[in-house]
Amino acid sequence: MSEVRFFTGETVPLEMHKVRIVQKLDLLPVEERLKAMREAGNNTFLLKNRDVFMDMLTDSGVNAMSDRQLAAMMTADDSYAGSETFYRLEAKIREIFGMKYFLPAHQGRACENILAKVYVKKGSVVPMNYHFTTTKSHITLNGGRVEEVYIPEALKAESSYPFKGNADIGRLEEVIKENGPENVPFVRMEAGTNLIGGQPFSLENLRQVRRVCDKYGIKLVLDASLLADNLYFIKTREHGCSSMSIREITRAMADLSDIIYFSARKLGCARGGGICTNDKAAADAMKELVTLYEGFLTYGGMSVREMEAIAVGLDETMDENMINQGPIFIAYMVDELRKKGIPVVTPAGGLGCHIDAMEFVDHIPQDQYPAGALAAALYIAGGIRGMERGTLSEQRDEDGNEVLSNMELLRLALPRRVFTMSQVKYAVDRIVWLYENRHMIGGLAFVEEPKVLRFFFGRLEAIGDWQEKLVRKFRQDFGDSL
Ligand code: F0G
Repeated sequence: MSEVRFFTGETVPLEMHKVRIVQKLDLLPVEERLKAMREAGNNTFLLKNRDVFMDMLTDSGVNAMSDRQLAAMMTADDSYAGSETFYRLEAKIREIFGMKYFLPAHQGRACENILAKVYVKKGSVVPMNYHFTTTKSHITLNGGRVEEVYIPEALKAESSYPFKGNADIGRLEEVIKENGPENVPFVRMEAGTNLIGGQPFSLENLRQVRRVCDKYGIKLVLDASLLADNLYFIKTREHGCSSMSIREITRAMADLSDIIYFSARKLGCARGGGICTNDKAAADAMKELVTLYEGFLTYGGMSVREMEAIAVGLDETMDENMINQGPIFIAYMVDELRKKGIPVVTPAGGLGCHIDAMEFVDHIPQDQYPAGALAAALYIAGGIRGMERGTLSEQRDEDGNEVLSNMELLRLALPRRVFTMSQVKYAVDRIVWLYENRHMIGGLAFVEEPKVLRFFFGRLEAIGDWQEKLVRKFRQDFGDSL
C-alpha cells in the first residue's frame, strides 16, 4: 500500500496488489443469522464459516498468500529428516533475525508450551508488557505467574500515545526485585500486544527492557507473532527510526532478544511457528521437547509446503509496501468509525479494528460479557464475525471468581490483503446501525463453561429476548435487504 495522493483530496488506501484467486461468500438473511448465532451458543468461535459473510475473527492463518508463496510451496522437499525446505527456512531466519538456531513448531502456542516447560517452575514469575491468552495458560499450567508491566496509557481506549505496548521500566524492575531475579526465568515482550488493540512497543523501550534484563541476568524473550505491524509502527512513529529499513529495525529488535518465537499463522502469512536463538544451551534444552511434542527437528509439526511459504512470507515481511497494508486499512476503518462517534481503540493499531465495548454498551455489566454480547449482536446485524477480547477471554481465579478484564474489546481483525474497501465500508455501516440501536443490546450468561480457555468453546445464552427485538428492528430499518 502506498502513499498515493488522490486529486480530490480523499484519503483512500490504495492496494499494491491485485486479486487473482477468489472465494465465494454468502450473506444469510437476518433471521437465519439469529438462528446460527443461537446454535453457536452465542460464541463466534462456534459459528460455521459457511454462515459468515465477513470473517473478522482473526488474522491467524487466514492472511492472503502471495503468488511467490504459492509457487514456493510447489518446490517443497518432502522428507521426514533433513529436508532441503527446512534448511532454506533456517537460512532465511539467520538472514533476517541473525539467529543461528531455529526450532520449528506447529504454531505459536506450541512454542509457548516448550518455553514454559523448560523455563517455568512453581513460583516462577514472568513479567511481560501484556499477556496473551495461550501464553498465560502455559505459564500458569507450569506453576508460574504472569506479572504485567504495562504503562498507564495501555488501558486507555482512546489515546494519542504512539507506543501503548511499551513496558513500564520502573515497574519491571520492581517486579524483579520483589520476586527475586532467581524466580524470573525470562521477561516476555509481545510485539503488537494482541489483547489491548494491537498496540506496538518502541525500539527504545525494548532497549530499556534489555538493560534491565542485563542488570539482573534475565533472558529476554520476544513474541514476534505480530512483528509485522510493530515493525511498521516503529518505522512510521518512532523518532529516529524513519531512516532505518524494515530489515534494520528487525535486526535491531532481534539483537536485543535472547529468544524469539512466533506464530507463522500471523508472521509470514502461512501456518506454523518456531523458536530462534543464538544461545546454544537454550536451543539444546528446548530441542528435546520439540521432538517429543512437535515432530523431528527439521519439520516440527509443519508441512514442508508451509515451511516454504513461511520462508517467502518472512522475506515479504521485510517489504514496507506489504506490511503497511494491514495497519493502513485498519486506520481507515478506525477513522471512519470515529467520524460517526463510535468508541474505538486509538491510535489505530495492528491486527484489526477494536471497538470499545465498555463504552459502546456501557449499560451491560462486565459479568454479562459486554464484548461477547456485542460480538453476537454484530453477527446478527451483518453476518460479521468478530472476536470477544474481554472478561470472557479471561479465566476465573483459583476460587472460581470472575476476573474482570481491564478492557472489553470487540476485535474485528483485518487479515492482510483479504478484504476489499467496499466490504470494510459495509462493516462500518452495520456497526453504525448497531450503535444507533445499542440500547437494545443485552447481556449473555454461560450455559456451558469450560475450565480452560473457556472463550474457545463455551456456550452462552442471551439474557432476555433482545436478539429477537434486534432482528425485528433490522427488518423495520432495512426492509428485505440482506
Ligand atoms: N502470541 C500472540 C501475540 C498471538 O497473537 C498468538 C495467537 C499466539 C501467540 C499463539 O499463536 O495461535 O499460532 O498458537 N493469536 C491468535 C489470535 C489465536 O487470533 O489472535 P498460535
